[in-house]
Amino acid sequence: RAVEIVKELEERCATPIGLLKQVANAMAMEMQAGLASEGDSKLKMLISYVDNLPSGDEKGLFYALDLGGTNFRVLRVQLGGKERHVVKQESTEVSIPQHLMVGSSAELFEFIAAELSKFVASEGDDFHLSVGSQREIGFTFSFPVKQSSIASGTLVKWTKGFSIDEMVGKDVVVELTKAIEKQGLDMRVAALVNDTVGTLAGGRYYDKDVAVAVILGTGTNAAYVEHAREIPKWNGLLPKSGDMVINMEWGNFWSAHLPITEYDQDLDLESLNPGEQIFEKLISGMYLGEIVRRVLLKLAEETYLFGDTVPSKLRTPFILRTPEMSAMHHDATSDLRIVGSKLNNILGITDTSLKTRKLVVKTCDIIAKRGARLAAAGVAGVLKKQGRDTAGGGKQRTVVAMDGGLFEHYTIFSKSLDSTLRELLGEASPSVVIKLANDGSGIGAALLGASHSQYKEEVY
Ligand code: BG6
Ligand code: GLC
Repeated sequence: RAVEIVKELEERCATPIGLLKQVANAMAMEMQAGLASEGDSKLKMLISYVDNLPSGDEKGLFYALDLGGTNFRVLRVQLGGKERHVVKQESTEVSIPQHLMVGSSAELFEFIAAELSKFVASEGDDFHLSVGSQREIGFTFSFPVKQSSIASGTLVKWTKGFSIDEMVGKDVVVELTKAIEKQGLDMRVAALVNDTVGTLAGGRYYDKDVAVAVILGTGTNAAYVEHAREIPKWNGLLPKSGDMVINMEWGNFWSAHLPITEYDQDLDLESLNPGEQIFEKLISGMYLGEIVRRVLLKLAEETYLFGDTVPSKLRTPFILRTPEMSAMHHDATSDLRIVGSKLNNILGITDTSLKTRKLVVKTCDIIAKRGARLAAAGVAGVLKKQGRDTAGGGKQRTVVAMDGGLFEHYTIFSKSLDSTLRELLGEASPSVVIKLANDGSGIGAALLGASHSQYKEEVY
């Protein structure tokens, strides 16, 4: 019976290449719709106000804040001013206490500003402000924001584990600036960016062919360079570069082709944001382990896979985190010892047979590969929209900068993503390169802070 349930799961989660092509096409079409008008698509296609990516000439001391991944990070970087020269870089990270994710906006921003203040105090003599006296910040805020300029924008909604209602609709930079002033710090936010946009900027600094950035971490999302004239909803002046970076918010993508199971439906219903971020809930690190937990719970309840009683911990939402799932999935020991000990330590399940452990690994495999293959279809959709998915248009080299813990650490996931993308691109495959842009967003935000510095005219 247990084998049958897993078999059924496999069928429901199947992602044959034909289905993935439909997903990619749907992605490209939704992108078009989201660029035409706000309300017409699941894809917000948010305008970032970044119309120039880093040139390599950025110069001076800049700070970056990064909120929205597993950890909150603060970074300071001394940019050399030519030939992509980072003179010195330092950073620190802390995890955001759970209660601040669902508390008040003042508390959250005060926590951030206090961390920033501590970090600024540790600035050594080898960092120096070239011009002006006010330190400037590139702020990576990894949630959907409707921007009104490069350094202002209101929160559209929370995603991932955050939920602070009063913050929705408020200007993120105003809230942060209030908290910074309260700390007695004299600093200014020069750029507000999504992590995908930061990763795109950071990626471009080192490689001029970076045209897309994808985050696969706690959440998932993508940003890319669009022709400004192909954004009907943009009613500002056409930028000199002719380009505009778009934050897609692809986590909210939906298509009838997505292979959604009963486990996904239940997860969604019981989540902080039901009906939203469906693509993200199939793919990203916050959810993969939780889907597996739900399958294991069903196996326990209906087939007594783990004994006569259902292990009580198995009923705790989010107890099985994706890194633990990954550890089980990568278990190369002959008796699946690691699977056994994870089941024991995390879920209190003792004495599992090899057959049971194999079934657990199989479950991880089904869920991880579905996510990876769907992510690949997403990338193929973006490349299609850019005309970079065919052998003709694809002659130009295209680099996709990727970041996030899921992509970096879950090897089976990343390998599956890569091979699926190759399969989808066919002849165009050789011209598309996936690059890990580790911490691209931190440096990217600092670079965008530099290119939007109030002292820019004086420096360049
Ligand atoms: C980091 C980026 O490297 O990856 C962040 O700088 C981003 O901006 C993060 O949010 C996503 O990864 P995770 O796995 O921490 O959610
Ligand atoms: C979520 C956020 C998005 C972010 C992504 C990756 O999808 O809504 O803004 O880019 O997570 O961190």
